[in-house]
Amino acid sequence: MNLMADPQSDTEGRLRHLLTLNGLGRERIVALLDRGAALRDAYRGGTLPPLLAGRTVMNLFFEASTRTRTSFELAAHRLGAFVVNFDIANSSTSKGESLEDTLATLEAMDADAFIVRHKENGTPARFAAHARRAVIVNAGDGNHAHPTQGLLDLLTIRDHKGDVEGLNVTICGDVRHSRVARSDIHGLSALGANEIRLCGPAALLPSATEFPECRIVGSFDEALDGSDVIIMLRLQKERIEGVLGLGEAEYFAAYGLTGERLARAREDAIVMHPGPMNRGVEIADDVADGPRSVILDQVANGIFVRMAVLAELLRV
Ligand code: NCD
Repeated sequence: MNLMADPQSDTEGRLRHLLTLNGLGRERIVALLDRGAALRDAYRGGTLPPLLAGRTVMNLFFEASTRTRTSFELAAHRLGAFVVNFDIANSSTSKGESLEDTLATLEAMDADAFIVRHKENGTPARFAAHARRAVIVNAGDGNHAHPTQGLLDLLTIRDHKGDVEGLNVTICGDVRHSRVARSDIHGLSALGANEIRLCGPAALLPSATEFPECRIVGSFDEALDGSDVIIMLRLQKERIEGVLGLGEAEYFAAYGLTGERLARAREDAIVMHPGPMNRGVEIADDVADGPRSVILDQVANGIFVRMAVLAELLRV
């Protein structure tokens, strides 16, 4: 790997920021998952060490989010860090201050880590390029990447399947606009999934050239055949009518995951969703709440992989 061109590594090749799973490599991904699982054991056994005591973690969420922000907040807090949720709506950024000046100001207050969510692709990388000492964690930028979501999905798959290698994974819904799908695809490819199937209406699929390693499958039923893992994505309701010209019921009939459809997948297939879910649009109630659903395991694992990322980046 050309380290000079890798914006998330330091000159020794160690991870300095987490911006994307693309190019991170199997070894570093597995190390983060292992660390997350170890921190989970420690937390559940009541022996979690206060690894981040004395450190300050700042949440910079330029785009609304409650679950991801809360997950990062709990991860940092449970490791003993001091956590600040920077109030963007009332900040000087909304008065026209540049992102670089906001970063410099907050770094001068001795923040050790910034968790950044932004609607524009590349904003966390822009912070990383200007950070003097602090580490940057991408908590979702545009449709580019959501690396901690990718990690928590991989950990959840590993928990239930033992290994990612050799699995058939279907990702269904608005793949084109999904940073979750992109990070999942990068992580699943790095860990050797057998086949990644992307499914959804043509208008919501990525171009065939973006992910040559994936198989684009128009029919959801066909995609489900032999799937070990099914990842459903949230569909923005305005896209159903606006872009697709469909009613919610029509979308659900074509791409909604029902119990009947799920029967086409492997008997022990697991069902995932990053949340927030639109019940009755992309997923049926009985599937979301059924025995194959691991959706709440994903939520729980989110905290542990975020602990692992913070501990790694802050070198504790
Ligand atoms: C996702 C996001 O914001 O990228 N949700 C999340 O992080 N919990 C997915 C989504 O909003 O559809």
